[in-house]
Amino acid sequence: MKPIPHSMITSEHNFRNRRHFIASGIAAAIALPLAGSLLASADASEPLKPTPLETINSYNNYYEFGFDKSDPSEAAKTLITSPWTVEITGAGADKKGAYDLADIYGEYAIESHVHRFRCVEAWSMVIPWNGIPLHKLITAAQPNSRAKYVRFITANDETQMPNANWSGGPYTEGLTIEEAMNPLALLATGIYDKPLEQQTGAPIRLVLPWKYGFKSAKSIVRIELVEQMPKTTWWQQNPREYGFYANVNPDHDHPRWSQGSERVIGEYGRQRTQLYNGYANEVAHLYGALSDRRYFY
Ligand code: MTE
Repeated sequence: MKPIPHSMITSEHNFRNRRHFIASGIAAAIALPLAGSLLASADASEPLKPTPLETINSYNNYYEFGFDKSDPSEAAKTLITSPWTVEITGAGADKKGAYDLADIYGEYAIESHVHRFRCVEAWSMVIPWNGIPLHKLITAAQPNSRAKYVRFITANDETQMPNANWSGGPYTEGLTIEEAMNPLALLATGIYDKPLEQQTGAPIRLVLPWKYGFKSAKSIVRIELVEQMPKTTWWQQNPREYGFYANVNPDHDHPRWSQGSERVIGEYGRQRTQLYNGYANEVAHLYGALSDRRYFY
């Protein structure tokens, strides 16, 4: 991924929304404003401190709209997000179908989940998401024994996205079926009780808090239940640096930088990165021994 430009550091007086969000039953981390590059330690007793909405909406990775962090918020309004259809298909789905997003909203309750979000570029935010647990849609598709992986395909339209072809096709992501059924996996539709804006992946995107942010595919149009491990966009772009699992691990450095700490967007200083981004209790059982490095690519 491109290096992080230093230009996008949120000003100190960014207004902070003071509502209190507590992540249900999940260990929390907070960044203390320490001088210089001192690290704040993760404190599981502290509530998460959500990043301001204007920061979440203006510091983005959505390469179909440009490579700089400010490009998506400036360019993405061209993406028409209503009406929107999500197709659920693949050999592993006994009940295939194309669903209007409005019908999905009618069918499922929208839940609120506050989660840490950790980009592979070593920055982080805390985001109060609204959305539908992914396992609910997968269960509705009646998965059969061929459903071993889930593949996510996103919108890719040259007429609406100035940089649609940056990777040679739609942005594609994937999970094992066990990962996809984990209650932490969310199909997000909003942030701070407001609908997603185009730059954050409107109208529907993945959120996988224990994985690096590139797994969180934006503007999803198709979900396939498949037998083979899907080839995902960044894995194909640069297999030496990005793989299929991409679980957050502070002890497994990126070939070009450390993953031991993260810059907290909108705060001063850095904080230590936690294994599985702090969600080990919820997801560690999905993976083999920590010495099995496969799960961190
Ligand atoms: N989805 C699509 N379709 N295109 C992208 O370029 N970037 C990924 C992910 N989803 C990306 C995408 C990366 S690298 C990250 S870190 C997150 O989106 C960023 O999400 P945010 O901008 O909401 O913080």
